[in-house]
Amino acid sequence: LAKIEIKLADIPEGKSVTFKWRGKPLFIRHRTADEISIEQGVAVASLRDPQHDNERVQKPEWLVVLGVCTHLGCVPIANSGDFGGYYCPCHGSHYDASGRIRKGPAPANLEVPTYEFPDEGTLVVG
Ligand code: FES
Repeated sequence: LAKIEIKLADIPEGKSVTFKWRGKPLFIRHRTADEISIEQGVAVASLRDPQHDNERVQKPEWLVVLGVCTHLGCVPIANSGDFGGYYCPCHGSHYDASGRIRKGPAPANLEVPTYEFPDEGTLVVG
């Protein structure tokens, strides 16, 4: 399937849910107010792959990223690692709750796919 439609009501605040899209894991994270304010406040110049949180999300509550570590392609674990986002156990890459690489060997942030919100309760990726 080229596109996947997700009902946002199925993903409670604070949870990251994994879907499968084009043969890859897709992480949809319903971020809390705390996570949003932490990620918005990160100094962009301190990042390996410098991107402000605003460049990575369309709506602050929703992070949409591919669950593919940018090091060698393992699937990171949600709500794990030193930065409150994702941790890749293969070689120890830590991503934050914006999917940005913060520590470990991965060279780049988790990829943000093309997506849109056709209405308040729906997300379409692809
Ligand atoms: Fe994720 Fe190496 S594949 S750290």
